[in-house]
Formats: sequence, C-alpha cells, structure tokens
Amino acid sequence: MKIAVLASGNGSNLQAIIDAVKNKLITNCEIEMVISNKESAFALERARKENIKAIFLNPKSFQSKDAYDFEIVKLLKESKVDFVILAGYLKWITPYFVESFRNKILNIHPSLLPSFKGLHGIEQAFDYGVKTTGVTVHFVDETEDGGAVILQEPVVIGEGETLEQLEEKIHKVEHILYPKAINLLVNNKLEITGRKVTLL
Ligand code: GRF
Repeated sequence: MKIAVLASGNGSNLQAIIDAVKNKLITNCEIEMVISNKESAFALERARKENIKAIFLNPKSFQSKDAYDFEIVKLLKESKVDFVILAGYLKWITPYFVESFRNKILNIHPSLLPSFKGLHGIEQAFDYGVKTTGVTVHFVDETEDGGAVILQEPVVIGEGETLEQLEEKIHKVEHILYPKAINLLVNNKLEITGRKVTLL
C-alpha cells in the first residue's frame, strides 16, 4: 500500500512512521510522498533525508482552498496513493478531498476526542485541569476532529506536572499509537460501520 503523509511542522510523527516502516512495525506499506503547505516545515527535511519525495505546495499560488486540494488529490491519484496520513497538517481539508479519499484519511489528535478539539489540544487539556488526557487516531470526515475513532490511549497528568512535561509524554504516546493504527489500516484490519471502528 502506498501512503502519503501531509505535515506542516516538525514532523516527529512522520519520523515515527518512517522508522516504523523501516523496522517493520508497519508492514505492506511504502511512504510515497510527503506534502506540506509550509516551505520551512522540518517534515520536508526529514523526508528528503530518507529519499522520500518531498513536495511543498504554496497555498498562495492557488485561487481557493478547493483549487489547492484539487491539486493535492490530483498528485495523490497520479501516484496511486492508497491512504493519506495527516501528521500535524495545519490546514483544513475540503469536502472534495474527504470525498475523494473517503475512510482513507487518518489524523492524530493530542487529546481524548471529543474533548479538546482544534488547535493546542495538549494545552487546552492542561489549562482545563483534567487529570487524564491522551491521544486519538481517527478517520477524517468533513467535521473538525470529528471522524470515527480508531485508537485512543489515555495519558495521566501527574501532580505538579508542567505543560512541557505533558507535551513530551503525549508525543511519546503518539509515536507508538500512530504507527499501530497505520499498520492496521494498510493491512485491512479496520472495519468501519457508521461511527464505530472494529479492529479485525
Ligand atoms: C502532534 O501533536 C499531533 O497530534 C498534532 O500535531 C502535532 C504534530 O507534531 N496533530 P509533529 O509535527 O508530528 O512533531
């Protein structure tokens, strides 16, 4: 199976996926390309270092969000990409994009959804004062962080823990959980019925 990873930033999740493919924690999978909407995204560097096609698509060069996603979908289809992995991709995905890859786009979110949707999920949970937060991997639909949940892992917020410490803990969990979910996806082990995802 061919996957494309879309990322806007550091790309530590991308790196975890690259490593998991190398170490065969993800089988039956090839990272076909990495696409970013940010030229300076370190994720693009990481891809180049691994000889993975790294593409920067400048949103400013397109007339609309639809035109931008039309180009991405074209690229993905031309390269026969099977699944799309969002890894810190800070851009809204248009309904056209979702429809073109229905139940084939994954996202990782740093909270236990449906709590703390949107940006800064770790900080939101920390500021709210919850005792447990976590990580969610889910399918992407037309709603914000609202698609069917695939895997979740709780992370306890310790007494006196700082935001930085919590961030570190969350990222560690992400780097295990995302490869696990992707491995299930590319090996056809996810069955989706409405909002329910069954692990086969
Ligand atoms: C992660 O915390 C992920 O959950 C969120 O964006 C962050 C991306 O981090 N969607 P990185 O770029 O993979 O390091």
